[in-house]
Parts: sequence; structure tokens; C-alpha cells
Amino acid sequence: MPKYGNVSLSVIRRLPRYYRFLGELLQKGTTRISSRELAQLMQLTASQIRQDLNCFGGFGQQGYGYNVAALHDEIGKIMGLDKRIPTILIGAGNLGRTIAKHMKFDQSGFNLLGIFDNNSAIIGQAVRSLTVQDVQSLGRFCNEHHPRAAILCIPREVAPEVVEQLRAFGVNCFWNFSHYDLALNFEGVVVENVHLGDSLMTLCYQINALSDETP
Ligand code: NAI
Repeated sequence: MPKYGNVSLSVIRRLPRYYRFLGELLQKGTTRISSRELAQLMQLTASQIRQDLNCFGGFGQQGYGYNVAALHDEIGKIMGLDKRIPTILIGAGNLGRTIAKHMKFDQSGFNLLGIFDNNSAIIGQAVRSLTVQDVQSLGRFCNEHHPRAAILCIPREVAPEVVEQLRAFGVNCFWNFSHYDLALNFEGVVVENVHLGDSLMTLCYQINALSDETP
């Protein structure tokens, strides 16, 4: 597992879940929680939670537990959710439009600035408050707005070429839905690959394992 500073990616991957659970507790008006209670709620162990949070300095107080609002806030800051990473989306097809419309970018640390496609039937359409632009104008757009991240909702076959172009325009961070393993072929990129199919197959395994146990 790669490490970011001294923190392993597996710990980083748990942060959004802590953030979500703490946000729900806040909404219910819970002000304080022990690591044991939080562990029960999240189906983790208390020592796992303490270990995870200790990677960032630790936030609980012996005998008091965690202040929910403060911990929620801190975890948000650790992830950098208060930043607005300038971002573009490439491929305004079914998936790209859905993501552009439904993701809460501003609450996740991103600012979606532009959407691009190469299909003339799609260019010019409105998605959210943005108009789909011609991918040919990407260079000019990047010179002007300096996006750091791109969301790839394009077919796998075109991904290498598009990534090459994006890197030349200074975009090095990718939320990648294209099924193309770009980290293997491009050095120094920050990538989060999303494969919804993997999640579905994991569910399939679990259902079948359960059925095998049932007499
Ligand atoms: P789609 O065909 O509706 O959309 C693809 C869009 O990319 C089209 O609008 C097309 O014009 C555009 N495009 C193609 N080449 C381009 C280029 N060089 N520059 C800019 N735009 C370009 O397909 P859909 O359903 O939106 O899926 C997109 C991709 O995401 C597919 O490759 C699919 O396999 C993948 N996918 C991945 C999932 C995941 O969990 N990672 C889930 C669903 C789809």
C-alpha cells in the first residue's frame, strides 16, 4: 500500500467513512462520543479507531471521548475538503452527465469548472450550470483556468490519448471511470480508479457464499 507522508492509503480510505458517520451524529445532535461507541456504530474496533486517528495526532481525551463537531471538522480539514480543487470532466455521456449532475463536488473538496466531449450532438448541451464544451478547446481552457484534476468518463480506448493531452496541459490528478489503468502507464499521476462492477461482483460473491451455507 502506498503511503502519503506517514499515513497509509488504507487509513486514508477510512477517513470519508469517519467523516460521514460523524456528520450523521452531528445532525442527530450528538456532541460527544467514546471510541467504544463510535467503534460499535461503525463496526470497527475501538483500537482501530484510536490507531487511525493517532496517525494525525489523535483527537480524543481520556475519559471524555471525542467531541463530534471538532473531530468532524478536523477530518474534513485532513482530507482538504475546505479546498476547492479546480476540476474538469471529460466525456458527457450517460455516466459523465450523471456524475456532473449528482455529485456534491463542493462538499468533497472539488470545483467542477468545465465539461468536455468530442461529439457535436452533445457539445453545447447544458449539464448542471455548465455547457458541454468541445474537447478541442481543452488547451485554451486549461491555460485560462488551470484545472488540477480531471474526471474521466470516456471509453477505455481513448483514455491514453486523452490523459496524454491532459498531462501536457498540467492536469495530473484523475478520478478515473474509464477502466484504463493509467497509473501503470503514466508516472507521477494521482489516480482514484472507480469500478462499480467490482463492487457488484463482491456483492455477488457474498450472496453466493451465503446461499452455499444455507441448507
Ligand atoms: P457513453 O457512450 O454514454 O459516454 C461516453 C462519452 O465520451 C460520449 O459522450 C463520447 O462522445 C465521449 N467521448 C468519447 N471519446 C472522447 C474523447 N476522445 N474526448 C472527449 N469525449 C469523448 O458511455 P457511458 O455509459 O457514459 O460510459 C462511459 C465510460 O465509462 C465507458 O467506457 C464505460 O465502460 C465506463 N463505465 C465505467 C463505470 C465504472 O464503474 N468505472 C460504470 C459505467 C461505465
